[in-house]
Amino acid sequence: MSTLAVYPGSFDPLTNGHVDIILRGARFFDRIIVAILVNAEKSPLFSMQERVEIAREVFRDQKNVEIDTFDGLLVDYVARRHAHVIVRGLRAVSDFEYEFQMALMNQRLNSTIETVFMMPAEQYTYISSRLIKEVFSLGGRVSGLVPDLVEQRLRQKV
Ligand code: PNS
Repeated sequence: MSTLAVYPGSFDPLTNGHVDIILRGARFFDRIIVAILVNAEKSPLFSMQERVEIAREVFRDQKNVEIDTFDGLLVDYVARRHAHVIVRGLRAVSDFEYEFQMALMNQRLNSTIETVFMMPAEQYTYISSRLIKEVFSLGGRVSGLVPDLVEQRLRQKV
């Protein structure tokens, strides 16, 4: 039986921490769907279309990585895609409480779906999309923390 996993998130923008988790997932599972949440924030920096375009370009050569969008309940989307695994990245202890609540809520909503936590490489453990946006908007360097394409697109925004 092949294992299909879903890696959900806002990805506004995609960071090298996300990329690291997706590549680990792609090695570990037969196929991984990067599922971008529609309307996660009222005013995201990158539109849904831009986020999809960026992710498709970054994973162009990864044949077992699919980029998709979803809205509504995550567990419903996962079931619709006939997947049984949700992948989430854990960076620090501070992520744990929120992730623990989400995993248990999702388990309650659909007990056939398992949440699997993966740790990114150490050098990415402090990166978040929120910090990237803040640092970049204040003139800080984000190279090495996001894919080059994201950096280019960030520059076009200012
Ligand atoms: O990148 P994020 O913002 O940490 O991702 C959060 C996400 C998209 C995984 C979460 O908000 C989610 O699953 N939203 C869909 C709605 C849903 O199912 N909510 C109940 C989760 S317990």
